[in-house]
Amino acid sequence: MWPRHDWLSPRKASRAPRSPPHWHRIDRSATAHREEEEGGRRGSRARPAMMPSSSMPGAAGSSELIYRGQQAAVAEDQEEAAAAGYYYSSAANKKPPPPLPWVRYVLGEQRLVFALLGMALASLVFLLLAPSGSPPAGAASSGGSAAHLAAVGLAAWQYSSSRTLEGGVRSAARVPLGLKRKGLRVVVTGGAGFVGSHLVDRLLARGDSVIVVDNLFTGRKENVLHHGGNPRFEMIRHDVVEPILLEVDQIYHLACPASPVHYKHNPVKTIKTNVVGTLNMLGLAKRVGARFLLTSTSEVYGDPLQHPQVETYWGNVNPIGVRSCYDEGKRTAETLTMDYHRGANLEVRIARIFNTYGPRMCIDDGRVVSNFVAQALRKEPLTVYGDGKQTRSFQYVSDLVEGLMKLMEGDHVGPFNLGNPGEFTMLELAKVVQDTIDPNARIEFRPNTADDPHKRKPDISRAKELLGWEPKISLKNGLPLMVQDFRNRIFGDQKDAGDN
Ligand SMILES: NC(=O)c1ccc[n+]([C@@H]2O[C@H](COP(=O)([O-])OP(=O)(O)OC[C@H]3O[C@@H](n4cnc5c(N)ncnc54)[C@H](O)[C@@H]3O)[C@@H](O)[C@H]2O)c1
Repeated sequence: MWPRHDWLSPRKASRAPRSPPHWHRIDRSATAHREEEEGGRRGSRARPAMMPSSSMPGAAGSSELIYRGQQAAVAEDQEEAAAAGYYYSSAANKKPPPPLPWVRYVLGEQRLVFALLGMALASLVFLLLAPSGSPPAGAASSGGSAAHLAAVGLAAWQYSSSRTLEGGVRSAARVPLGLKRKGLRVVVTGGAGFVGSHLVDRLLARGDSVIVVDNLFTGRKENVLHHGGNPRFEMIRHDVVEPILLEVDQIYHLACPASPVHYKHNPVKTIKTNVVGTLNMLGLAKRVGARFLLTSTSEVYGDPLQHPQVETYWGNVNPIGVRSCYDEGKRTAETLTMDYHRGANLEVRIARIFNTYGPRMCIDDGRVVSNFVAQALRKEPLTVYGDGKQTRSFQYVSDLVEGLMKLMEGDHVGPFNLGNPGEFTMLELAKVVQDTIDPNARIEFRPNTADDPHKRKPDISRAKELLGWEPKISLKNGLPLMVQDFRNRIFGDQKDAGDN
């Protein structure tokens, strides 16, 4: 081994024995050998290089010198040690570099304090001027929602904005920079059905973007086909019994077979649609902060003991009858809707729809108006069940759609009866159909079906007062509009079907 003092700088050679206890010797043999080879060429310039201990040959060997002390070594010691071939290993004890000039500038003369104060003031002003409206429940609080928004590619969550029926924006929506707000994004479940398709027409006409979710059980593509080229229209073939994820502002939940023929066809599926389907749509509304509207029915009053029916009436429903899958299904759907409203602060609306008629109704679906019209057109006898003295009220579909939209845009949860209070017996209705289509149409009596209510007439005072809504189209004026559509479909002349 090379003696230490032999490769020290001659200047320090005399001080070499002074090495402090925290300096350990570096194995310099390799350097020394190189120096030996280089001979006098390097002369007194030959100084040991500083190098990390790990990269040193024989770092773990007994001849390595490393710094173990925690205190800062005096600069002189470092210099001396370095000069004397000792390795200083603590980076922590290096002198901190002087701050960068811009850091010195920012920290000087309380500039940082002023900058922070400015930012705080700007935030305050921004918050005060921001649109009133609450962020979607999910987006505000749940990580799951944030993950969802990220998944659908949005850079920021948006306020669910509300807009008046006339088209004015009531509360502006926050959208990511660079994206334009294009009306509301609305889901209509059951949008390919009779009522749903008319609602879709109106929503698109006022400038909204509409997604129809429908499994086409009773709905028809033809009902919405005329929107095929509209970029604001989409249709998803989907069963609401399965969950679905969509980024929307409003959900009109109509999906459910509505006529007795259809809902009795598969009662278990009907009640699943009403319960599981409604749960799924409520869950979606909660997750994306959308407003939710349920189309319930006058059937929740069952065979009513109170006449006309007001919304406060709890009904008289058979829970185990053949209609219960629909009646009780809708009652449960109302319960779920209110539970989400109370329990999850969801914005909800409930409409109790009374008998509605108009173009695009299913032909032969067992509903009395469509039955009579189709029979009269085909020159078949009009079938009246029971004695024909049971009453119903009939509203034209455009009145209903107007009511649904007013309800959605208004401030009241409901439930609201939406129907035409004009009351007709089945025999009176048959007479109107005869007058409109065929005065010679015969009437045929058949035994009544189980649980068929005797009377049905809405009290619409609440809707009149709180929604400013009431139906405008009488049966005499509405029926011819429906007859034209039925004529086209029954006799194969589809020319005007989509325009109705
Ligand atoms: N038309 C009326 O007189 C009336 C009266 C009271 C209540 N309502 C309610 O209004 C809504 C619409 O009724 P309508 O007359 O337009 O009936 P409809 O049968 O014409 O429309 C219902 C739509 O829902 C779809 N649908 C059914 N089950 C579905 C499921 N599981 N998943 C996805 N889509 C499904 C059907 O394919 C159809 O397009 C229904 O909720 C109904 O209960 C209607």
